[in-house]
Amino acid sequence: NFTPRIFSGIQPSGNLTLGNYLGALKRFAQKQDEGIETIYCLVDMHAITVWQDPEALRRQTREAAAAFIASGVDPKRSILFNQSQVGAHAELAWLFNCTARLGWMNRMTQFKDKAGKNAEKASLGLYAYPALMAADILLYHATMVPVGEDQKQHVELTRDIANKFNHDFGVDFFPEPEPLIEGAATRVMSLRDGSKKMSKSDPSDASRINLTDDADTIAKKFRKARTDAEPLPETVEGLSERPEARNLVNIYAALADMTAAQVVAEFAGKGFGDFKPALADLAVEKLAPISTEMKRLMDDVTEIDRILGHGAEQADAIARPIVEKTYDIMGM
Ligand code: ADP
Ligand code: NA
Repeated sequence: NFTPRIFSGIQPSGNLTLGNYLGALKRFAQKQDEGIETIYCLVDMHAITVWQDPEALRRQTREAAAAFIASGVDPKRSILFNQSQVGAHAELAWLFNCTARLGWMNRMTQFKDKAGKNAEKASLGLYAYPALMAADILLYHATMVPVGEDQKQHVELTRDIANKFNHDFGVDFFPEPEPLIEGAATRVMSLRDGSKKMSKSDPSDASRINLTDDADTIAKKFRKARTDAEPLPETVEGLSERPEARNLVNIYAALADMTAAQVVAEFAGKGFGDFKPALADLAVEKLAPISTEMKRLMDDVTEIDRILGHGAEQADAIARPIVEKTYDIMGM
């Protein structure tokens, strides 16, 4: 009995990558074109769970907004805004801190990955991150959350929080949103290490393609990407024990809107000496218009600031009544 509505976000914590584009941005634009109501957020309050230089954060937030727009998210058809401009996110996050259980947080693998060995030195915010993410989603009664595979566990926790809140207070107020994890590139891996996901927070720049990389840099990074020495197999099953090769095939498939099986059929028997340049050409063809448009938008940040200001007003108009009703349900 909840209206279909999509919510998702990206941290403005650095250069956006090909992983963010294929796993998130490209699909955000597609969802908008399917005629579902779409709400997209730059989650700066998530970014600050690890140290961010203030000037860099300000620039990265605008740059991330530019990346959304350049990837096809249309601020006239989607709500596009910055999390810290809508105070209800922090408010509902606190209420959910009191709903979520410590034991649930202890099971979150991303906290373990990001905090590393010295978890005692991690911020309390990094630990509570999934409760803020639940607030982001449930503040809009969103029913679907397009994300990469790495965020699946957090969306499941969001469902647990919604369910416990509804149960604790005897209401049917929050929906249990579904993660939408679709396509060939739900988990784009590092170009240097097939066991790690491609991430803007990876210290090695060679491990990722940044949306702002120029054509030569993209070609060089793919040329140096780690692979085995075998040619591409005859069928997609032949990739199952070859994570680096599978990753490059999946990237090609997602960029070309093909399936991995179709890509393998096209390149069967060819070596990486042929496949990598074809992949680089395709990536440049798809990414060059995006980086050009990002640069154009960044030349005049007043336009970006205007779009984000308007988006925050639209978001607040939905979020404010929902957080007010939540207080009311809880007796506040
Ligand atoms: P990052 O992990 O690069 O800091 P975020 O946490 O801001 O990125 O994630 C933003 C969105 O991009 C999420 O939906 C996430 O699942 C998706 N995403 C991030 N990295 C990848 C990747 N390597 N492959 C596919 N999707 C990804
Ligand atoms: Na992530």
